Amino acid sequence: MSSNESNSRVLSGMRPTGRLHLGHLHGVLKNWVQLQHEYECFFFVADFHALTTDYDSSENIEQYTYDTVVDWLAAGLNPGTATIFVQSRVPEHAELHLLLSMITPLSWLERVPSYKDQQLKLNDKDLATYGFLGYPLLQSADILMYKAGWVPVGADQVAHVELTREVARRFNHIYGREPGFEEQAQAAQKKMGKKAARLYGSLRREYLERGDTEALEKARALLAEQQNLSIGDRERLFGYLEGGGRIILPEPQALLTEAAKLPGLDGEKMSKSYNNYISLREEPGVVEEKIRTMQTDPARGRLQDPGNPENCPVYALHQVYSDEKTCAWAAEGCRSAGIGCVDCKKPLMDAINEEQEVIRSRAVQFEEDPDLVHAILQEGSDKARAIARETLDDVKEAIGIAHR
Ligand code: TRP
Ligand code: SF4
Repeated sequence: MSSNESNSRVLSGMRPTGRLHLGHLHGVLKNWVQLQHEYECFFFVADFHALTTDYDSSENIEQYTYDTVVDWLAAGLNPGTATIFVQSRVPEHAELHLLLSMITPLSWLERVPSYKDQQLKLNDKDLATYGFLGYPLLQSADILMYKAGWVPVGADQVAHVELTREVARRFNHIYGREPGFEEQAQAAQKKMGKKAARLYGSLRREYLERGDTEALEKARALLAEQQNLSIGDRERLFGYLEGGGRIILPEPQALLTEAAKLPGLDGEKMSKSYNNYISLREEPGVVEEKIRTMQTDPARGRLQDPGNPENCPVYALHQVYSDEKTCAWAAEGCRSAGIGCVDCKKPLMDAINEEQEVIRSRAVQFEEDPDLVHAILQEGSDKARAIARETLDDVKEAIGIAHR
């Protein structure tokens, strides 16, 4: 059940863990930069989420938040196009989290895979806390707050989006049944105009009576096209379509980021904890140094020994950074011992440095003027907050604690 197949709002967040690296650039940020041109985007730093695991070392969160945002801007996120903000600057996230916690069964949270996985993985920390159990529900609040249709995430986060869908469904089920719903939905149907109303009616019957999901899709598309329905009426009709009540919190969908896992300097996935990364804004000369000392196929002990590019992390990076011709040159030269590893690394260094150049030059104005970054976050947070307030008003009204 979803009222927003057609919803073009995108939301995603990142915990502040410090300076970002090329793995983040290729795995996440390039995707976000692309999405900002196609959707109404909200990107935020999840500093509350950082506290769920790092409550006892919170002293870096503020610096990390700032560094993260500078990296986002340097990678090409445009604050004029996307709304960029900090989670804790929109305290409504905490309020929605609390309200959702009232209706969320404990067992739903306990069975989210990351709950047990992370406790095992981070076994030096006491994660048997209330806050950590609530991690994915806080994420649900983040998403539902903006009624986002799409949530770009990696595979490890899909279960959290799934939980969000279940929580939204439960919320709508419990609080979406206003008195007189049926009558109101029928009145809304009439407002579509005769022809559309008739079509809606028959598609709804086909779905409800025969489970025809194609009819459901068609009816949703029909509703999405209607110009003269209020938001409330549209939501009623989406809900009525499936026999339920009004949809207050629409269900989002995960927009799975294709796992372009960037190989690190050692061929493993690039990651801060493996210390095999190149940062987004490396000091000049560091890229050369890191590539120069990269491992290659051990078979190439001497220049005249042929190698196998498939066993070489340098070649893995070529496949991300170099054109087909350069990749073919490297592979062929490696197998025939026609080139040395130093030669092979040169075009890779150049390609990464060229990318760094663009990122560094975008970063300069933000590095020189922290106030500018703070102003961007202030403006983004204000914009986000206005929307968050509206959602909370709806939510509290539906629950019956609007006190108006
Ligand atoms: N849990 C996400 C991660 O670790 C970060 C996050 C918090 C998030 N809230 C979100 C992602 C909402 C998407 C939507 O990567
Ligand atoms: Fe790796 Fe290139 Fe050396 Fe072959 S020639 S081992 S691909 S660096």
